[in-house]
Amino acid sequence: MGKNILCTTFSFDVEVRIGAGAFVCGEETALIASIEGKRGTPSPRPPYPAESGLWGKPTLINNVETMASIALSF
Ligand SMILES: Cc1cc2nc3c(=O)[nH]c(=O)nc-3n(C[C@H](O)[C@H](O)[C@H](O)COP(=O)(O)O)c2cc1C
Repeated sequence: MGKNILCTTFSFDVEVRIGAGAFVCGEETALIASIEGKRGTPSPRPPYPAESGLWGKPTLINNVETMASIALSF
């Protein structure tokens, strides 16, 4: 997304990864497992990915359509 966004110290990198491809790997907890190289099976929540997601770190997962509909703010 850029470095020093809007002249702040906040920088945000986005990395696109290919998941395992199975339908169930679209479910957020299964997707995280597949990115980590594990079998893509859903896991019970809590903990929610926003608390403990990819590599145990807080993770936001959004539909690409959600991202595409974010208006440019500058
Ligand atoms: C079985 C299953 C498959 C899913 N597949 C997808 C998918 O292919 N793409 C997707 O964006 N969300 C999929 N989801 C929903 C995700 O779990 C998650 O809610 C969504 O990606 C969050 O994005 P949003 O908050 O922008 O809608 C699936 C959910 C389930 C239960």
